[in-house]
Amino acid sequence: MSLFITFEGSEGCGKSTQARALWRKLSRLSIPAVLTHEPGGTALGNQLRHVLKRGRQDKISPIAELFLFAACRIQLVTEVIRPNLEQGKVVICDRFADSTTAYQGYGRGLDLETVKKINDLATQGTTPHLIIFLDIPTQTGLSRKKSTANDRFEAEDIAFHNKVRAGYLKLAAEEPERWLVIDANLPRARIGKIIWDRVKQLLQTEKASRHE
Ligand code: TMP
Repeated sequence: MSLFITFEGSEGCGKSTQARALWRKLSRLSIPAVLTHEPGGTALGNQLRHVLKRGRQDKISPIAELFLFAACRIQLVTEVIRPNLEQGKVVICDRFADSTTAYQGYGRGLDLETVKKINDLATQGTTPHLIIFLDIPTQTGLSRKKSTANDRFEAEDIAFHNKVRAGYLKLAAEEPERWLVIDANLPRARIGKIIWDRVKQLLQTEKASRHE
């Protein structure tokens, strides 16, 4: 039942909660599933996560930031995502390559072609079957966060976060069949139901194709 599902969204959109809920639901149904996240999910990734999120003393250049996220990703793809997909599991990843396009590409303003090249190198052809994007107005999302003082991204100004959100919406519009865009202001249970309906459908399609 090999299926790769990623969750994307701006700060405070509730994607981590929904990613965990989906993983729990699959586990309850005895469908083998793995939940992981970016940046992180490996020993190297966790160390880099700390640098990327809390490294406030040294200014990290946008290109260095791009490479650091790519390093996290290639390690995660190699150690966790690919092996589990090869074992026929559902892999759920809280953020993936589209975060880089939205944050480093649209947010930081790096050349989108360069970002794509680096993303392609880091993912090595491992692309999500489904990208679940929880869309939230920037201010609402940021105010859901308890403290922005210690986080390099949450501490960015509203203009940066607006560019990230606009970038996500553009990506979703370019590939509507692969992106599921959900209003993150909906009640949590309703969001969970929308996600489950779509995942169930994908699982059925996958199962049918294996029996052909
Ligand atoms: P989070 O795990 O709490 O969502 O924090 C990760 C932060 O890193 C978040 O602000 C988005 C940012 N990020 C990027 O800028 N580019 C990336 O490629 C990824 C994976 C995350």
